[in-house]
Amino acid sequence: MAGQKKLLRALAGETQDVPPIWMMRQAGRYLPEYRATRAEAGDFLSLCYNPELAAEVTLQPIRRYGFDAAILFADILLIPQALGADLWFVTGEGPRLSTITTEGDFAKLGPVSDIHETLNPIYETVRILSRALPAETTLIGFAGAPWTVATYMIAGRGTPDQGPAHALREENTALFEALLARITEATIEYLSKQIEAGAEVVKIFDSWAGSLKGEAFQKYALEPCRQITAALKERHPGIPVIGFPREAGDKYVGFAKATGVDCVALDNSVDPAWAAAHVQVGGCVQGNLASRHMVTGGQELVDETRRIVEAFRNGPHIFNLGHGITPDADPANVQLMIDTVRSS
Ligand code: CP3
Repeated sequence: MAGQKKLLRALAGETQDVPPIWMMRQAGRYLPEYRATRAEAGDFLSLCYNPELAAEVTLQPIRRYGFDAAILFADILLIPQALGADLWFVTGEGPRLSTITTEGDFAKLGPVSDIHETLNPIYETVRILSRALPAETTLIGFAGAPWTVATYMIAGRGTPDQGPAHALREENTALFEALLARITEATIEYLSKQIEAGAEVVKIFDSWAGSLKGEAFQKYALEPCRQITAALKERHPGIPVIGFPREAGDKYVGFAKATGVDCVALDNSVDPAWAAAHVQVGGCVQGNLASRHMVTGGQELVDETRRIVEAFRNGPHIFNLGHGITPDADPANVQLMIDTVRSS
């Protein structure tokens, strides 16, 4: 595998002395250059739909830190918008969407074949990036997992316990499943276009997978991820997929095998030694430093980073945080984390 990019080598199962490294939300508000470009774009969604500026913010952390991967700058909620939901962001609060709780609401959504009209600028961002990135940097495309996207579409906003989505799932299972199927189909088309435009890996973010228990996890987290992965690999043989069933706990075990993903991303509630023994045996893992270290820094950051690198040293590993970096993070702590990983 000599000559191949570090991230792709890890995804192919190679154990490396120094793991490849990137960071969730690496293009974000903790960086002054991101805030400047966002101000130039006007607001967050205008930034997502402006290919030149979205490519620029994607490249900023690559220039500053030399990460091994760049992740497309976009959002998981562009799919609902492309399906016809209203979407806006309230500063300091987060996303708002028109809600889907009845058959009538669902009937207003457009067909999957129409999504590209809205999403074409995103594919253009991917094309710009695949030309602009350094030869050693891997380009990651992404989408939200159907369950996580559905939790926002049903509630119209982020919810601490995903209560409205669970209520619909129990009270109108047919409608809930129809919505999930629509998102699943749209996600396959969306990711497929990202791959055609130059994404070399795709990641499926299931941020709220942990609130699905027992059989519901199998049906609504695992199964859609399996379907998306199978469809993408059939259309694009060899395309690596990263799954992120956040807070899945012991359901991380066997997740890669059951879904066909090449790597599972671990949140920071997972003990790395446990994950090395029970999850990494099944293939590549990504993670899992707590984001708060990017705020607090110091010796604790160094010790925790080393502990994670050590735990995963004997198998394929991609170093990352357990969740996105927060706006209050200190850019110097990111450099300290990278230096620690690369000198461990
Ligand atoms: O990782 C990256 O840098 C790639 C870009 C990316 C964004 N969002 C940009 C973003 C990715 C991969 C996402 C995923 C995403 N978006 C998830 C799944 C991962 C996770 O964090 O659990 C979710 C649930 C969303 C939905 C979303 N987008 C929320 C809830 C919010 C508001 C919360 C917040 O952090 O402000 C966003 C906004 C958002 N998405 C920002 C960024 C950089 C901040 C927007 C800003 O600049 O104001």
